[in-house]
Amino acid sequence: KETKDQLIIDAGQKYFGPTMCKSCGMIYTASNPEDEMQHIQYHHRFMEGIKYTGWKRERVVAEFWDGKILLVLPRDPSYAIRKVTDVQELVDYELGFQQLIPRCPEKTKTFLFVSDDKKVVGCLIAEPIKQAFRVLSEPMGPESSGSKECPRAWQCSNVPEPAVCGISRIWVFKLKRRKRIARRLVDTLRNCFMFGCFLSTNEIAFSDPTPDGKLFATKYCNT
Ligand code: ACO
Ligand code: ZN
Repeated sequence: KETKDQLIIDAGQKYFGPTMCKSCGMIYTASNPEDEMQHIQYHHRFMEGIKYTGWKRERVVAEFWDGKILLVLPRDPSYAIRKVTDVQELVDYELGFQQLIPRCPEKTKTFLFVSDDKKVVGCLIAEPIKQAFRVLSEPMGPESSGSKECPRAWQCSNVPEPAVCGISRIWVFKLKRRKRIARRLVDTLRNCFMFGCFLSTNEIAFSDPTPDGKLFATKYCNT
């Protein structure tokens, strides 16, 4: 029996270093049972979380050749709210964010990018705001912020500027990045956040941006 197991393992894994799962995107060491176990658990939870089975009623706000964007509002059916909650949990886990406590839950708008293969590969959560603080130049280096535990310590202006819409989360599935999904989500948000007007980039603000979020926002707002 032992020889048989060994054969299977040897045949299946030619490479023993870190590998990336082509479905869930997790990087793990296939030769490490603990890592492999962690991957199996994550894989299942992630794939279930992003699975989109199709809803009886869906609010399609944009359509593309590779997918569509759905808008979910707080009073939508529970199956839609549940999906948003599941996706948000995955996003918060990935970003290491604490559970989001929306300031005005009844005014939150969630945009989901659903790919052609029926997966939620992008998510944008927006809420109305009144003011924002501009991020100034470069983040403070470790020497000025004093600790490594503060990777998001961008220096912010203390002069509030009027804003309309805050992006509390923006996320694109790791294996679908750099395909303009985030850009299309923000374009759609600008178009749909307030009825009858297209928000300017000055009217939207990214809350607590990550390094990825900052690179994207800088590029998006300049173009
Ligand atoms: N590095 C450099 N430039 C970038 C990056 C990056 N990581 N991401 C986006 N850009 C710039 C590029 O110029 C890009 O255009 P190009 O590909 O033609 O060069 C442009 O922004 C548009 O990028 P998109 O393809 O629309 O962005 P994408 O769909 O890849 O999503 C996002 C960007 C959401 C930041 C993604 O990287 C992500 O999910 N990261 C992890 C989660 C995260 O950090 N989210 C932001 C949290 S902050 C907040 O939620 C308020
Ligand atoms: Zn996987």
